[in-house]
Amino acid sequence: MDRLRFDFGNLMAERVENGVASERLETDLAVRFREAHEAVEARRATGDLGFLDLPYATETVDQVVGIADGYAQWFEDVVVLGIGGSGLGAAALKEALLGPFWNSRDDEGRDHFPRLHIVDNPDPFTYSALLSQLDPARTMFNVVSKSGSTTETMAQYLVAREWVESGVDPDKARGHFLFTTDPEHGALRQIGEAEEIPMLPVPSNVGGRFSVLSPVGLLPAAACGIDPRALLQGAAEMEQRCATGALSENPAGLLAVLLHQADTEQARPIHVLMPYADRLAPVARWFQQLWAESLGKAVTMSGEYRNTGPTPVAALGATDQHSMLQLLMEGPQDKVVIFVCVDDVGVDMPIPERHPGISALSYLGGHSLGELLSVEHAATAEALRRVGRPNATFTVPRVDAQSLGELLMLLQLATVYAGALYGVDPMDQPGVELGKRLTYGLMGGAGADRPELEESDSRWVR
Ligand code: PA5
Repeated sequence: MDRLRFDFGNLMAERVENGVASERLETDLAVRFREAHEAVEARRATGDLGFLDLPYATETVDQVVGIADGYAQWFEDVVVLGIGGSGLGAAALKEALLGPFWNSRDDEGRDHFPRLHIVDNPDPFTYSALLSQLDPARTMFNVVSKSGSTTETMAQYLVAREWVESGVDPDKARGHFLFTTDPEHGALRQIGEAEEIPMLPVPSNVGGRFSVLSPVGLLPAAACGIDPRALLQGAAEMEQRCATGALSENPAGLLAVLLHQADTEQARPIHVLMPYADRLAPVARWFQQLWAESLGKAVTMSGEYRNTGPTPVAALGATDQHSMLQLLMEGPQDKVVIFVCVDDVGVDMPIPERHPGISALSYLGGHSLGELLSVEHAATAEALRRVGRPNATFTVPRVDAQSLGELLMLLQLATVYAGALYGVDPMDQPGVELGKRLTYGLMGGAGADRPELEESDSRWVR
């Protein structure tokens, strides 16, 4: 089959102890989802869920492609400065669609497209190491911040600006910057307008963690030769597939309903996303932020204090079979594992038949590494099922732009459905404000008093 599939059999009572009774998919869970779907559609109608319109924003894509073509010609290195939703989506696209070791390939290996670096953490050790490898004359910085004021990104921008100006004519320095930010507000927009720095918009109704299919993700992808239209085509197909309020037909709805049910009825609040493909590991990290920041809320939309929210965990198969599987198999019964598999991995490696006399190796010969990875997923899913640990599997036909677009849209839709099921607003993040305010005050931000922090106490420090 050439489209994404969701096999949730190992969440059902027929297969796994304490699983969900199948008839519930037609009765109470179906009703629950229909209501959640209606709530999402009603919110969409108010214009609040801009991410659902991104697959159809053809003008924006033309603009992105135009700008990206220029960058591909002029620059050897593109550095994205952006954190959270402004960096994780680009990182997911980069790894999945450019493949491993993109930046180590030579010019021809990259088809003459630039190298792509995504810098989120303001760790001076990493950032200085990166800059020391780059040539300011051949480097472009894509500063990505919806708010245009995020401390980490702004600090990195200031460093980058000085670094570029120390290496190129100051008049030309602004040509090394592109800002991706709110269409009207924020410091970046202000600088961009004053200095005529090119800018791409993050639509005002698109939140950071829902922005991967906006210029936030599309520009870095297109600058390195990824076809943004194929990505959006896949996302559009998923968006249309999920237009239905019928639970059994809506894969994003099934994911949301079954994980919400696992959390609220079975005390399974830990949701592990475990792709069996290195290229999809950053998708799991992107999902971790999406699920955590969207659903972890103190107050529900009706004003009730409830401290809701599942805990997402990003994992990688088969690697984490050797770190987390023991816990998943025998630890507390508080988790659901969602695997992501790939039908056609694109490249395979036969395992040679050697050491015939050593049974610990000889059974491997004649198989392939792709087969091994796929068998390991099947074995892990079955092992979990046998000990009553619920799990489910998404399978994508291959890792290409179209399939990735489908998967990213599905996970975003599942998040807003889950928001409706938990009764929280998946679009806000009030809980991060206090830390931001304290940082601002500690860094001497204008108008802020220096906050008092608890002193460390020698009684509790060793
Ligand atoms: O999802 C979110 O809203 C956040 O993770 C933001 O993306 C992150 O805080 C960065 O914000 P900004 O894009 O405004 O710099």
